[in-house]
Amino acid sequence: MRMFKKIWRPRRWATGKVKHQPVENGECVSCHNPHQSENKKLLLKPDGKPCFECHEDIQKNLAAGKVKHQPVENGECVSCHSPHQSENKKLLLKPDGKLCFECHEDIQKKIATAKVKHQPAENGECVSCHNPHQSDNKKLLAKSVGKLCFECHEDVQQQIAKAKSVHQPVANGECVSCHDPHATDRAKLVTKPVPALCFECHEDADLRKVERHKTAGDRTACMTCHFAHQSGREHLLKGKETGFFAPGK
Ligand code: HEC
Ligand code: HEC
Ligand code: HEC
Ligand code: HEC
Ligand code: HEC
Ligand code: HEC
Ligand code: HEC
Ligand code: HEC
Ligand code: HEC
Repeated sequence: MRMFKKIWRPRRWATGKVKHQPVENGECVSCHNPHQSENKKLLLKPDGKPCFECHEDIQKNLAAGKVKHQPVENGECVSCHSPHQSENKKLLLKPDGKLCFECHEDIQKKIATAKVKHQPAENGECVSCHNPHQSDNKKLLAKSVGKLCFECHEDVQQQIAKAKSVHQPVANGECVSCHDPHATDRAKLVTKPVPALCFECHEDADLRKVERHKTAGDRTACMTCHFAHQSGREHLLKGKETGFFAPGK
């Protein structure tokens, strides 16, 4: 009898900084059958179902989301949350990025080995860009790509707003057609070096038609004459001072 009391004292199951309210209140039987069950750990219901009993909003949001995170959809709530208590906010088993890296080792490896790392990704702030459960945007993004990037890069947004010419993929918010959101080996997180990056969408044959692109050098050093995002001049052109009138220097 003493043993029984000791084990089932709620405080033993809620020693962490963050305590799950029903556990703290000793309501063990809201999730467990004390005697027997068809489910592992004497749970009343399998998988995510016991959680949805009290977290209807989570269930509703999940059902409504266009893109669902696989472990959440499968009801594997306890692959990320402790049902009882935790040292981390929101009862998470591990803090921030460490949690995600449990299953996304490829991203972890890429960030660890790349020369240039995007600061929020390096800091493990994955949920500043991704929703953990579901989303209406591809790749579980909290917002569509352009809007997401402008959350922290207002300066880029402001420059575009007052420019005379804006590069079409930039205007369309297709930031990840040129930048890797996590990490790369190239400055400014570009996915490929210039001019390969530009040739992704611009055919050399088309570029040759432009008078100013005559020499081979003109068709590799794109950034000598053009800005990547926008310009106060036409055709994304840079000003005199940047060497436009002295190409190849
Ligand atoms: C919110 C639902 C919920 C409440 C309330 C709850 N548990 Fe659990 N418990 C679970 C789930 C889910 C698991 C299975 C975890 C897993 O599979 O990783 C579990 C597992 C366990 C286990 C197996 C060992 C372990 O940690 O995996 C024990 C023992 C246990 N709970 C005891 C208790 C006691 C005692 C209480 C009350 C103080 C309690 N639980 C309250 C959901 C709950
Ligand atoms: C018996 C009701 C009940 C069940 C079952 C239940 N929860 Fe909770 N949960 C609560 C209450 C009450 C709170 C505190 C109020 C709130 O944040 O909604 C809470 C809060 C949480 C929080 C937020 C904690 C924080 O610090 O903000 C998480 C995460 C959570 N529950 C996950 C789960 C998971 C995972 C399951 C299934 C294993 C589960 N809950 C099952 C009642 C329940
Ligand atoms: C892939 C990991 C993962 C899985 C699986 C997962 N969650 Fe979460 N959940 C999170 C993270 C991360 C947060 C905290 C988000 C934040 O800090 O903005 C969270 C937050 C929550 C909260 C707090 C509410 C809020 O909006 O802050 C509840 C409740 C919750 N989850 C319940 C569940 C339930 C129920 C399931 C299973 C159906 C589940 N979670 C599955 C990662 C997960
Ligand atoms: C328990 C394992 C697990 C954990 C933990 C986990 N994921 Fe996932 N995640 C998956 C699986 C499985 C898929 C689907 C297969 C795939 O794309 O790799 C997935 C897919 C994704 C996708 C792509 C979704 C799509 O529609 O293509 C993103 C983004 C993602 N996870 C982000 C996260 C973030 C952020 C975290 C941390 C909060 C996290 N994951 C934690 C298992 C996990
Ligand atoms: C600055 C915003 C941002 C941060 C921070 C971020 N991601 Fe992403 N992530 C994205 C975007 C944008 C995509 C979609 C890329 C695409 O469509 O090409 C993506 C895609 C993914 C995918 C899908 C697979 C893939 O490569 O396309 C996974 C998994 C993922 N991220 C996990 C993570 C994890 C884990 C973290 C934290 C270490 C994290 N992300 C941090 C913006 C971010
Ligand atoms: C949560 C905030 C946040 C979000 C969202 C975010 N960034 Fe960043 N980004 C930063 C910080 C912090 C830095 C480093 C400081 C700086 O250069 O402003 C940075 C730097 C960069 C750099 C320069 C890297 C270098 O090496 O100089 C690029 C390029 C970039 N971000 C692109 C993006 C793109 C594309 C997106 C959208 C997919 C995005 N960012 C979304 C916070 C963010
Ligand atoms: C056509 C390719 C392309 C697209 C699309 C693009 N960028 Fe860039 N971005 C670049 C290049 C190339 C650089 C480096 C420019 C340089 O060094 O002069 C850069 C630089 C940056 C920087 C660093 C700025 C600085 O002054 O150091 C940020 C931040 C950034 N981009 C964010 C974004 C955001 C946000 C979007 C989407 C709205 C976006 N980019 C779309 C190619 C692109
Ligand atoms: C993701 C596709 C994509 C990438 C990558 C890309 N562009 Fe573009 N670019 C476009 C589209 C679409 C247009 C508008 C249609 C057109 O003029 O072909 C455009 C137009 C331009 C224009 C003409 C703008 C005007 O107002 O006349 C210049 C200059 C230009 N791009 C330079 C570059 C440079 C330099 C790079 C490499 C840093 C690059 N582009 C990379 C898609 C791209
Ligand atoms: C020596 C300076 C210079 C270099 C280097 C240069 N451009 Fe240009 N580019 C121009 C000028 C000037 C125009 C405007 C032509 C006009 O007014 O007809 C232009 C126009 C363009 C256009 C618009 C073409 C059209 O039909 O409207 C694109 C796209 C473009 N450049 C892409 C590139 C790419 C990609 C590179 C690198 C591979 C590059 N440029 C290198 C000077 C240059």
